[in-house]
Amino acid sequence: MSTFQTVKGFRDFFPEECARRNYIFDTWRAVARRYGFMEYEGPLVESTDLYRKKSGDEITNQLYCFLDKAKREISLRPEITPSLARMVTARQRDFKKPIKWFQIGPCFRYEEPQEGRSREFIQFNADILGDSSPATSAELIALAIDVMLEFGVSADDFIIRLSNREIWNTFLADKNIAAEHMQTFLQIIDKIERARPEETEKKLAPIGLTLAEVRAFMAAADENHPAFAALRENLTARGLWQHIRIDATIVRGLAYYTGTVFEVFDLKHGLRALAGGGSYDKLCALMSDGHVDLPAAGFAMGDVVLGILLKKTPGAQMKLTEALLAASSIDAFVVVADEAQRLHALAAVQALRAVGIRIDYSFGSQKVGKQFQAAEDRKARFAIVFGAEYPEVVIKNLVARSQSSVPAANLVDEVQKLLQEPAIGPLIA
Ligand code: HAM
Repeated sequence: MSTFQTVKGFRDFFPEECARRNYIFDTWRAVARRYGFMEYEGPLVESTDLYRKKSGDEITNQLYCFLDKAKREISLRPEITPSLARMVTARQRDFKKPIKWFQIGPCFRYEEPQEGRSREFIQFNADILGDSSPATSAELIALAIDVMLEFGVSADDFIIRLSNREIWNTFLADKNIAAEHMQTFLQIIDKIERARPEETEKKLAPIGLTLAEVRAFMAAADENHPAFAALRENLTARGLWQHIRIDATIVRGLAYYTGTVFEVFDLKHGLRALAGGGSYDKLCALMSDGHVDLPAAGFAMGDVVLGILLKKTPGAQMKLTEALLAASSIDAFVVVADEAQRLHALAAVQALRAVGIRIDYSFGSQKVGKQFQAAEDRKARFAIVFGAEYPEVVIKNLVARSQSSVPAANLVDEVQKLLQEPAIGPLIA
């Protein structure tokens, strides 16, 4: 056992976890491309000021920040959105609007590790910049829904909780409450489900509000509220409105959101949010001291809660298992039954790999039985045996338990042909 362990909240990815992670990446990428998004990436480290100014207290309290050797204050990124706004505002003239970009990569937050929370996690971000219509939020919500469905998580397993910060602006204005209380008020709403009622009441009092009036307003904010009309029409036309639940308690912890806000939750296991996002129309202007005024909206999905849900959801689990099998298996194992044929076998290994066939073999002399065992362990579909009968080579189908013999010169063609046939197991009499 090593004397060293991972730093608290950081993760190792052994091959199985790596395969699981790659499956998640492949699925995110495939659906984002289906929606016409292009991939980008930003740096892992930014100046700490970027987050102090743009993300708000909740995230800055969780920053992994330090001084570099030149005494610059820098931070590991807790999210990519401020970097995205920085990148886009720097070169916005170079890109046709709307900009539809996605990104996949690690983020770091100094939180207490617990179920669904680690200090290093991976996010999938999708953002649209340069179009302020509700169609952008609808497109992003549709993308989030399709990602969940693609993973095999069905309509019974998840929900999008949707709200709009504007409805709270109107609420405060109607009650004659000064706009400066907005951020404090939103923080109270953000925690309202988890906090004890007496606590919430105490926090609302200095703003001049009671819990009862806040609750009454929340109960009245349903899908008929005009703030949701355009989104509702759009998502209903796509057959996706069934995935939406209006929930005024969703306001999002980050400071930069301006209008629509949403989060994705599972319905059966009470897990933390799988994803969250919304529109943030002022962030680009803030980033560029008012020079670039680009409306924007986006969301991020993390891999940690998603990973837990995939394991707990049978339909998703099946897809995951298939992907893990595909990632860990090979097409054929080359068995050297007669060491005198090893160099011929090596030539064949290279020729087969050159056309894209996944091949493994034993590095040194080994009993034939052991080599077949290795072929089974690697879940190889075929064993290709180089024995005394060379230049004839035996191909054993390890799934169907059948075999054929081919001249070595035809081996690559023959294996390619066999791999195109469906992999059927032995017929049961
Ligand atoms: P966020 O809600 O802070 O939003 O994070 C999005 C998702 O990242 C969460 O729903 C969760 O799945 C995952 N996540 C966050 N913190 C942790 C953690 N400590 N451990 C594991 N997973 C975590 C944002 O980051 C916004 N920048 C999203 C966005 C993109 N808004 C507009 N564009």
